[in-house]
Amino acid sequence: MNHPPFNPLVADIAPPPIPEVMGWARDYDGALGPLIDMSQAVPGYPPHPDLLAWLGEMAASPAYAGYGDIEGEPALRSAYAKWSGAIYGADITPADIHITAGCNQAFFAAAMALAGPGDMVLLTNPNYFNQATTLAMLGIATRTVTCDPANRFLPDPAKIADAIDERVRALAIVTPNNPTGAVYPPDLLAEIYAICRRRGVWLIIDETYRDFLPPGSGAPHGLFAQPQWRDTLIGLYSFSKSFCIPGHRLGAVTGGAPVIAQIAKVMDNLQICAPRAPQAAVVRAIPALGEWREANRQVIAERATALQAALAQRAGWSIGAIGAYFAFVRHPFGKLTSTEAARRLARDTGVLTIPGACFGDGLDDYLRIAFANVDKATIAKLADRLAS
Ligand SMILES: Cc1ncc(COP(=O)(O)O)c(C=O)c1O
Repeated sequence: MNHPPFNPLVADIAPPPIPEVMGWARDYDGALGPLIDMSQAVPGYPPHPDLLAWLGEMAASPAYAGYGDIEGEPALRSAYAKWSGAIYGADITPADIHITAGCNQAFFAAAMALAGPGDMVLLTNPNYFNQATTLAMLGIATRTVTCDPANRFLPDPAKIADAIDERVRALAIVTPNNPTGAVYPPDLLAEIYAICRRRGVWLIIDETYRDFLPPGSGAPHGLFAQPQWRDTLIGLYSFSKSFCIPGHRLGAVTGGAPVIAQIAKVMDNLQICAPRAPQAAVVRAIPALGEWREANRQVIAERATALQAALAQRAGWSIGAIGAYFAFVRHPFGKLTSTEAARRLARDTGVLTIPGACFGDGLDDYLRIAFANVDKATIAKLADRLAS
């Protein structure tokens, strides 16, 4: 086709990886049993029936058919602030919350609010690919801080400090991590927060998987309890995983009033307001479905244990890091790139994983396994599948 050029910042980005990986499943002949899809990070169980009923009720109500507040439904800002405040032992107010249409949009809006073309944002390597591509599309440069596999893919604060210069506006981290599953301990997060604060850069912390820390873990960290957190900290959250509603697109930003004011400008142009019916439904689900969420946390933790047991039976496979929804696993096909390894695994065994190379540089020895997607009985079958 002979068309005028596209924006090179978008055109140069590779197509989304998940549909490509799902396409590989078509090459599997089914000989070993049904496909085991551990590619996309989705909870492999349905939403709670009460939440489905509330979603229906709210969607059918004229009350939520019009535009809503840009920052989100006041009732959800309030319910989410109260819930988060209890999780972190912190004073988080409704004014500190901006509801978005998913956490990817929350990151997009936050990045745009903090940095412009030519500025730089630090990411880890490996990183969540949508953060890297968002920054690339916005013309924001990135520099990565390598997370050492020997240190279970946790970032080294000294390397973060070294990577900060006058171009750097923010550091974005994800904990529990996508793709590695690594859970950043509270002390490490406190150190990273202190470095960012001292050096005058924002810390964006994406906690999409915070409700899937091991049962009984306590507060994920104490950053929101720091007296001046609003000056340099921005929290991101997704309702997709904990409430099993990725299709309804709901996320949240936690930040000080100046942050929320900037995000609102971006959101007004991107979306005007996040979908209102799911916001109203989640207002009810936050207090009502706490026990259900706890039970799911247990279920997902059992899936992690089942994966560890399955991989322990297979020589050559080793777990680099594991936690929440993911394991970042070293595959035994040394000479193959991770893309080729994942493609052949899909074709020959019907096991779908994401190549390590999708998450950064030098990661061809790894595959990301999203075990949350599959029940533990199926995970147990993985040992036999991988043997073939
Ligand atoms: C770290 C991380 N952030 C954000 C998202 C996107 O979440 P949402 O569905 O709320 O846009 C994901 C989804 O996989 C994720 O892994």
